[in-house]
Order: sequence, then structure tokens, then C-alpha cells
Amino acid sequence: MSRLFLTTAIDYANAKPHLGHAYEKVLTDTLARFARRTGQEVRFLSGLDEHGQKVQQSAGKAGKSPQEFVDGICTQFSDLWKTLKVEPDDFLRTTQARHKKLVGEVLEKLHRQGDIVKGTFKGFYSVRAEQFLTEKERQSDGSWPEIFGEVVELTEENYFFKLSKHQEWLRELIQKQPSLIFPEFRAKELLGALEKPLPDLCISRPKSRLAWGIPLPFDENQVTYVWFDALLNYVTGAGSGEGKLSDWEPAVHVIGKDILVPAHGIYWPCMLKALGLPMFAKLLVHGFWTRRSEKLSKSTGNVVDPEELAAKYGADAFRYYVLREMALGHDADFDEEALAARRKGELAHELGNLLQRTGSMIGRYREGKIPGVSQPDPVSEAFRDTVLHALRKWDELMKSYQIHLALGELWKAVQAANQLIEARAPWKLAKDPDKAGELDATLGDAAAALELVLLEVACVIPQTAEAGLIQLGYPGRPGPRQRSWPSWPTEQAGRSLGAITPLFPLLDEDKAARG
Ligand code: ME8
Ligand code: MG
Repeated sequence: MSRLFLTTAIDYANAKPHLGHAYEKVLTDTLARFARRTGQEVRFLSGLDEHGQKVQQSAGKAGKSPQEFVDGICTQFSDLWKTLKVEPDDFLRTTQARHKKLVGEVLEKLHRQGDIVKGTFKGFYSVRAEQFLTEKERQSDGSWPEIFGEVVELTEENYFFKLSKHQEWLRELIQKQPSLIFPEFRAKELLGALEKPLPDLCISRPKSRLAWGIPLPFDENQVTYVWFDALLNYVTGAGSGEGKLSDWEPAVHVIGKDILVPAHGIYWPCMLKALGLPMFAKLLVHGFWTRRSEKLSKSTGNVVDPEELAAKYGADAFRYYVLREMALGHDADFDEEALAARRKGELAHELGNLLQRTGSMIGRYREGKIPGVSQPDPVSEAFRDTVLHALRKWDELMKSYQIHLALGELWKAVQAANQLIEARAPWKLAKDPDKAGELDATLGDAAAALELVLLEVACVIPQTAEAGLIQLGYPGRPGPRQRSWPSWPTEQAGRSLGAITPLFPLLDEDKAARG
């Protein structure tokens, strides 16, 4: 059995979760569930990034100690993952002992090897923002923007990770293996960034400036720079999750486009190289959500609260919407009306209604038992071909990370089943005893198609799929595919259905609109 180690970015614990966080975790959860369905053994790791300046500042503003503050934020994230059925095998917090121990060991090793050295850092520092500024932030007339207040030139003793010596190696690696990064245009972006000489990476901060971090084992006056700490979560959480260097296994890292360069595309491979660990398997880089084409931002009030959306439309409708709407790797614009429309159309009207009508007709005409089909007629044959073809396409597209298109293919099977029912009109067939075989074929085929679809779409809408399968009398929960997949289910015949209830009930506002 092949094994997949799949990770998300660990979110900053400085504010509550937003749409971008929710999308990434739903995406990764879906990939984990799909991989399990296809027979892979999966370790799915997620977590929170709890150290650093931003967290220290937010805690200060909230009048709490940093640990108290991140504990509160952690509850908010965990609650959201519970609501959205995001179910990682391990949830890592960078303030946990296992992680601090691992980071200490890594620092010690790199220091001993001579890959971490002391140096002086000279730069412009904003006292108000408590951060070093870069030339990018300087205005064209040479002055610094108002928001930074007084800017002073500062020299600091710091530790540096020798990054520059790996530059050529990294460039060749990405050139030879562009598939290390998805989508491939992101590999080009990274190669572009590797054209200029890389400076060594400053990986420590003096405690006097930043107290909230993992102490350097070889200098008690310094703490670890938050990115150096955060990236190592992938090692702490690998394998047994006990924070052992030897447990590292090449991961597929799901991340957003803003943290490819330089963190995951440059720092991380160089850190693995210096540690003598094998390269990651892939960086899966998703795009950004906007709203009304603008950045999501708390300061402008342009925010989308995933918790509220899940409460209003249901977790599965939210999951379906974000995965159906966004082409993995590209940006997408959030539109609540589009979410409502997909829920009402594709989910309630197409999928939900298919189960409702198939189930109620099996109840009415066949005493609630799925009819067997002894000899599929040509209509039945054609229908089955359409469904099996859609499933193969779904599979192919899922494996190439085109989830939005994969869902479109799966829905062709749903639409074909609804069309089959329209065309064969079971309510007419039921009146003619000579058409009993045709009636069996129609209801049996529709039920079989539903089962095939629900077993696959469970990775996207797990709660609905499970509820639907129970209604279809499916024994047990969706597990890995059978060897012969995709093939027409034969063991359905004679099975009793459960109680048929709507998968996506009308929302209050739909009821109001109906009057
Ligand atoms: O970057 N749309 O944390 P973070 C889609 N702690 N994705 C978005 C997004 C948006 N509008 N905004 C943010 C960090 N993200 C670090 C990661 S990993 C070792 C350390 C994504 O809370 C973002 O790209 O700022 C990232 O993948 C994740 O949310 C966490 O962002
Ligand atoms: Mg960010």
C-alpha cells in the first residue's frame, strides 16, 4: 500500500480563522479522504503557528499572556474544524513540548555542523511596528511611510542559517523536477526568485525585542525566528508525531501562494538539505480568495466568516462550494449568492432530489427494496456507460488536482440519472404489468448510480454522503474502493432502504421566498 504524508500550512494563532484558512483545510481534508478511498495509507497533519511577533502583539492588545491567548484561538480553530468535518490525524501546536524539543535538536545539530553561525545584522528598524524594514518599504523619495513612526538604523548580533551555499543545488533541482510544485507556473515563479543571489537567513531574534519564541539552545539571549520554528512542524508531526528527526517522510505540503517564496520554496528545501533529510514530495500551492475582487482584510471589514456560512448553509454545502468554485492553484472570488445557488441547484435539486424520487418510488412500487436487474436493456446499458465514464473522468481529474472539474464530471452522472427517470417515467411504467422489467431497471440503475456517486463524493461532502448511503441501505460506511472499481454494483438487489429524508432541506429563506 502506498503511503501519503499530507500537511496543511499551520495558521497564525493571532486572530480567528477566515475563509482562506477554511478553504485550505477543507481542501486538504478532501485530498486525504480521496487518497484513502483510492487505497492509500494517509497521515494527515494540520496545526497552529503559535510563536512570533504577531502573536505576542495580539496577546498584548487582548491583555492576555501569549499562552493564554493562543489557547483561546486554538479552541476557535478546533471548533471550526469539528464543524467542517476537517479531521486530521494529528493537530500540532508549535508551543507543544514535542515540537520545542525537536526545534532545539535541529538548531543544535545545524550549529554543530557549522550551518548556523553568528553574525551582525544591520538594518532599518521601526520602533512603532517593532520590526526591521526592507528597501521595498521605502518610499521613492527615500523616506519611510508614516505608519512606521520613528525609523532608526540598528545593528544586532544574530544567528544566520547558511542558505546561500544551497542556491545552485536548489535551482537545478527545481529545473529538473518542476513537478515538485503544482501548478507548474509556480515553479517558474520560484526559479525567478532564485536568479538573484540569496542572502543567508537570520534565524534568531534577541529576547529583549521578542520574548515569545523557542530559545536557542546555544544562546540564552535569543529566540528562534518564527518561520524557522514553523516549518519544522512538518518534521515534528511526521511518522509517529513524536518529534523525531528520523521520522521525517517526504510530504505533500498544501500551502497558499503567499508562502511559496521564500518560505516553502527556498528556506524549507535548504533546511531539509542541511539536515540530510530527503526532499518533500510536492508543494501544492493554492490561490487566494477575494471578495468583490478585493483582498480579504479585517481592517477594511472585507471578511467572510466560515463558521457563519456553515451554520447557515451547512458544512457540506460550504465544502462543496469552495471546492467546486475554485480551480486549485488559481484565485477565486467569494460570492454568497453563488454558494446559495449551488446548494439549491446542484446539491438540493440535482443530488438531493435524485435520492428523494428514487427512494420514494422504490418505496411506492417495490415495497422499499432495491429491485434487481436481470438483463440490462440498451437504455440501461447506455446509462451505465455514461455513469462509469463520468466516474473514470472524476478519478483522473481528482488525481491531477482539478477538483472543480472532477465534481463537474461526477454531476454528469447525477444529471444522467435524473434524465433517465424523466425519460423512462417510472410512474407510467408502474401502471403496466408488462413493463415491470423496465421499471426494475430504471429504479435499480438510479439507485446504483447514486451509490457509486455517494461513495466517491464522500470525500467532499462526508456527512451528506453518509446520510445518503444509510438511506440507500448501504451496509457500513464508505471505505476504500474495490479492486474492480469502477464497476456496476450487483449486491444492491433486494436491499431495504432506510427512511428517505431530504439531504439538503429547504433553508428558511427559501421557504419564505416560496410564501
Ligand atoms: O502564513 N485565500 O499563516 P497564515 C486563500 N503561519 N488562502 C489564504 C488566504 C486567502 N485569502 N489568506 C491566507 C502563515 N491563506 C504561516 C504558515 S506554515 C509552516 C506557516 C492561507 O495564517 C495562506 O496562504 O497567514 C496559508 O497557506 C494559510 O492560509 C495560513 O496563513
Ligand atoms: Mg498570512
